[in-house]
Amino acid sequence: VSTIGVLTSGGDAPGMNAAIRAVVRTAIANGLKVKGIRRGYSGLLEEDIIDMDASSVSDIIQRGGTILYTARCLEFKTPEGQQKGAEICRKHGIDGLVVIGGDGSFQGARKLANLGINTVALPGTIDLDIACTDYTIGFDTAVNTAMEAIDKVRDTSTSHERCSIIEVMGRNAGYIALWCGIANGAEDILITERYDHDEAKIIENIKHSRSIGKKHHIIVNAEGIGDSNGMAKRIEAATGMETRATIIGHIQRGGSPTCIDRVYASEMGAYAVDLLCKGESNRVVGYRSGGLVDYDIQEALEMQKDIDQYLYDVSRTLSRSLQS
Ligand code: F6P
Repeated sequence: VSTIGVLTSGGDAPGMNAAIRAVVRTAIANGLKVKGIRRGYSGLLEEDIIDMDASSVSDIIQRGGTILYTARCLEFKTPEGQQKGAEICRKHGIDGLVVIGGDGSFQGARKLANLGINTVALPGTIDLDIACTDYTIGFDTAVNTAMEAIDKVRDTSTSHERCSIIEVMGRNAGYIALWCGIANGAEDILITERYDHDEAKIIENIKHSRSIGKKHHIIVNAEGIGDSNGMAKRIEAATGMETRATIIGHIQRGGSPTCIDRVYASEMGAYAVDLLCKGESNRVVGYRSGGLVDYDIQEALEMQKDIDQYLYDVSRTLSRSLQS
């Protein structure tokens, strides 16, 4: 491998810049050239490609977002788009590529690897919904941002003795909701993977909270369940307790990455370049049992992931421990 390309794809995530920085600097340390591909696979197809050196990644490790910009690209899902992408890589001398993104981005990485471009993918998403890894770049920052926001809602919720439904991101996965639910001491945690859509139980729980003198009732609701505004209206009607919905939204995707996101993203970026230097391709990097691992992309995409049942059980015990 002589020239490494790097791109970010799909939803941005805090820590992507740390990963880009690590890719660029590790490649340079190995005597390689580096090209940044802007705006994900869309930018690849439009040849939005820039030369990068060690100073191109100065002063970015602490920044949220991605200096390479990102996009979701439909054209790259087609065989023609993928063929064109591989040809553009070859034209620019890119013989090793690091793709930072989620599951969707891994599909594109696998296609490019099959078309002869050595490719390694890094898990970059706030949702933590990638089966082959216990850690994804951005989750730690997002969950801390959401946790702080929920603490703030809790203050005003208590003052007004209200019920608050707070909706967090995660697409179809409930990791952000579960972690925040525990970290914020929510009375109810609704996660996509376990929610039975039985609102009567929530209403009972609220009435019980009231009866034992609780001043607020915090419900953390996962985006995959949604309908927080509708839920608020129905709960208010059924309980008589003033209820408000707060959808935290994209604030969870931004901001300065936490130390964990900076360090793990740096380690993963370096590891991706090490794999390419060893001639590896079609790999995705993960974090398991305290260390980095890598898998065949196809194998990784076929893995299944579910919420940790013990953690879920703990969340239930702690949120309802005041009930007899
Ligand atoms: O995958 C990250 C994520 O923020 C999800 O949690 C959310 O469902 C989605 O992206 C939102 O995407 P967009 O920014 O395109 O609205």
